[in-house]
Amino acid sequence: MPRERRSLRLAPSLLSADFGALAEAISAAEAGGADAFHLDVMDGHFVPNISFGPALVRAVRDRTKKPLDVHLMIAHPQKYLRAFHEAGGDTLVFHLEAEGEAAALIREVRDLGAEVGAALRPDTPVERVVPYLGELDQVLVMSVYPGFSGQTFRPEVLPKAQEVRRRLDELGSNADLSMDGGITVDTARDAAAVGATFFVCGNSVFAGGDIADNLARLREAVLDGALHAVR
Ligand code: DX5
Ligand code: ZN
Repeated sequence: MPRERRSLRLAPSLLSADFGALAEAISAAEAGGADAFHLDVMDGHFVPNISFGPALVRAVRDRTKKPLDVHLMIAHPQKYLRAFHEAGGDTLVFHLEAEGEAAALIREVRDLGAEVGAALRPDTPVERVVPYLGELDQVLVMSVYPGFSGQTFRPEVLPKAQEVRRRLDELGSNADLSMDGGITVDTARDAAAVGATFFVCGNSVFAGGDIADNLARLREAVLDGALHAVR
């Protein structure tokens, strides 16, 4: 019998926020019901974009007590795990396509005392993560090719997400199934329907409208999606 599934959580991605007013964006998202914050770390090698490093994670840590979910889109995650943990990262999510042996990375994150997640690009098959499912706190099924916010959700990844959920349930794991990229009210509902529990939202929270209203609409959508889950 699988353990009880984790509650549904919304994690605004600060990459889409105004970096000149990050503290305000964090406060507004928190007031609007954000459950965690997602931090997109990009190194210009693993992905064709550069974002920020541990110093910014530290600055965010000093502004919020919410869990910080650090998405490492970097070629050599092993080198930087400690730095991102010490900066305040609660969950460290590495990419299965990056350098390094997944089992060793998982062990290192655990030894640091952080939660550990593994991410799959849209073209990475579910088999790549299967051997590690029992060891993970989060599986991140990317719904866009990593590198930029504001892209369109790729519905073709939904069967993969559903398969991850099925296998997690089979193992009795309550790890988060996270989806990231192009999450809107519509796609959040679809993600929840296949069993996602952790929703990374960038532009749908920060790129227009009122942050609290945006979060409220997303919350409603994920609750509705979970209610109409496809099993
Ligand atoms: C993409 C990042 C995402 C992205 C989310 O590489 O991992 O977290 O910034 O932004 P939206 O929700 O706008 O796609
Ligand atoms: Zn991300």
